[in-house]
Amino acid sequence: MMIAVDGPLASGKGTIAKALARHFGLPHLDTGALYRATAIAVIDAKIDPADAGAAAGAARALDITAIDEDRIRTAEAGAMASRVAALPAVRAALYDLQREFALRPGGAILDGRDIGTVICPDADVKLYVTANAETRADRRWRELTAQGDPISYQTVLDQTRERDSRDTGRADAPLRPADDATLLDTSSLSIDAAIAAAIRIVENAQNA
Ligand code: C5P
Repeated sequence: MMIAVDGPLASGKGTIAKALARHFGLPHLDTGALYRATAIAVIDAKIDPADAGAAAGAARALDITAIDEDRIRTAEAGAMASRVAALPAVRAALYDLQREFALRPGGAILDGRDIGTVICPDADVKLYVTANAETRADRRWRELTAQGDPISYQTVLDQTRERDSRDTGRADAPLRPADDATLLDTSSLSIDAAIAAAIRIVENAQNA
């Protein structure tokens, strides 16, 4: 079973993908982590993010067993990730890794922005998880302040809107629901309710 989970920042897609992976016993790949790790490599090597060739080189050189989980979760890494993710050469450099993971014999679950549309157009189940920008910004702001980041809610809301517009507006693999994706709006759902709804969607697809 190949499951694709897409959606914007802080929609709940990562939490839902992890829960589905546990429930159905599937390996899970957080593809955003690949773009975030590329972003950190670009920052550390002082690569100009407009230099597509150098950024793609950083993506190809990624050691996915050595990703620094704390560093890739910062707002700085997220903002740079969405810039390098707009570069077709970076997306191409990360394609094979994601596709190989998706084709694991026992099945797999991937979450990101273009899984249902580009990486796994042949997925058995496609979920598009979304929520309104204010709710997503509030979730993200709580996460960041819990980590000790003094950022204001308004700044996080502005960053969320900026990231949404970059991810949906780029020419290559823009964020959008696949035509055959099932939409799951988590704006007014608790985490548990959102996970339960996602499990039902996958079970319905299995029984169809
Ligand atoms: O999901 P996450 O917030 O970790 O992703 C960081 C950024 O990486 C996104 O804003 C997006 O620009 C990019 N991304 C992407 N395609 C994916 C996963 C993430 O373009 N499949």
